[in-house]
Amino acid sequence: MRLCLTNPDHGYYAGGKDPLGTSGDFITSPEISQMFGELIGIWFVTQWMAQKKPSHYNLIELGPGRGTLLDDALRAIQAFPACAQALKRIHLIESSSTLRELQARKLCKVGSLRLGDDNLWRGSGNLGCPVTWHEDLKTLKREESDVPFVIAHEFFDALPIHKFERTCEGWRELLVDSCSKTLHSIPASPSTSTGISASAFQLVRAKGPTPTSIAITNSSPRYQSLPIGSRFECSPDTFAITRDLSQRIKAGGAVLIVDYGPEKTIPIDTLRGIRKHKIVSPFETPGTTDLSADVDFQGIKEVALDEKCDVYGPIEQGVWLQTLGIGARAEQLKASQSTVQGCHRIEIGQKRLVESNHGSMGKAYKFMSILRKDSPIPVGFGGDIQD
Ligand SMILES: C[S@@+](CC[C@H](N)C(=O)[O-])C[C@H]1O[C@@H](n2cnc3c(N)ncnc32)[C@H](O)[C@@H]1O
Repeated sequence: MRLCLTNPDHGYYAGGKDPLGTSGDFITSPEISQMFGELIGIWFVTQWMAQKKPSHYNLIELGPGRGTLLDDALRAIQAFPACAQALKRIHLIESSSTLRELQARKLCKVGSLRLGDDNLWRGSGNLGCPVTWHEDLKTLKREESDVPFVIAHEFFDALPIHKFERTCEGWRELLVDSCSKTLHSIPASPSTSTGISASAFQLVRAKGPTPTSIAITNSSPRYQSLPIGSRFECSPDTFAITRDLSQRIKAGGAVLIVDYGPEKTIPIDTLRGIRKHKIVSPFETPGTTDLSADVDFQGIKEVALDEKCDVYGPIEQGVWLQTLGIGARAEQLKASQSTVQGCHRIEIGQKRLVESNHGSMGKAYKFMSILRKDSPIPVGFGGDIQD
């Protein structure tokens, strides 16, 4: 999954194309309506206020896509000049050079993108603060005085997973193998089982324990209580990044995660390919098909609690956006439209973000926030604005 998505030569996100939008493979909430990013920007303002208005903070986005979410969030933050002035740096975690270019075009002054001696790309942000790109969090140095406000929207679902099955002999890892061998193949997920026979790859059960199956199945009591025949998926990268972020907000800051995945249970058979807005086999044309798996929100919570942080959510996107005031913002935007089509477009966007019917995102996507211990309950998760 890692190779297929981020290999610098052949990975899905390394290719020269923009995967987002109607002509790409998928569409995301910020691309549907500006209200999504704006309300996330407002949420960061409420956190800045709740944390006694620190004089400096950084914004970090993991997997910023076209930069649309951040662009909209920054516009909302600008409506609060003291909060906008306290923003000192923007850090973007992005593995795709194509998307990095698009992000720079949206967020930085024209022609300001440069490769530094430390091999990091930098630009001068439209609001005046510097923007730095990192291929992963490891190159983003930790300063004790840092106050990072972090957003990860549809990032964790793109991180590689491992998959396991509990047999009478113990836990076995499910591995990807070539179809040329006559082994018993296992559908990667029920919804994609028909596509698998046409592909060159299949899932097979390891004959004995693997180092990964031993390490992961013993890593949480949640796995140990599962009965024989159970399967589950686990993304160690997700947990490592959650631990890293939880440690970074010890002196203040906040993490906001938005993604899809079950509210209470462990993801089971969710690995899928996404191509031209359709779910396909994850084994179809590796490197040109997007791959995704449900996010394990309870696993993220377990790690953040272990780091002595407070965790709120997961809460459905529709509920969160309504609490943050999407209804009022939609009315405001409609009032500024000069055409019926303009108003209609805003209504359609609002419905798609909030409603739970097929094709809408209000129920499937969830919001979760990680804050340092003993923080007030955040807005959108049951708390009130603290000023
Ligand atoms: C599904 S897109 C979401 C984009 C954006 N957040 C949005 O909602 O429009 C995933 C984003 O994460 C980036 N990405 C995926 N895997 C990554 C990884 N392992 N490291 C850094 N960035 C990654 C992709 O290049 C892309 O920007």
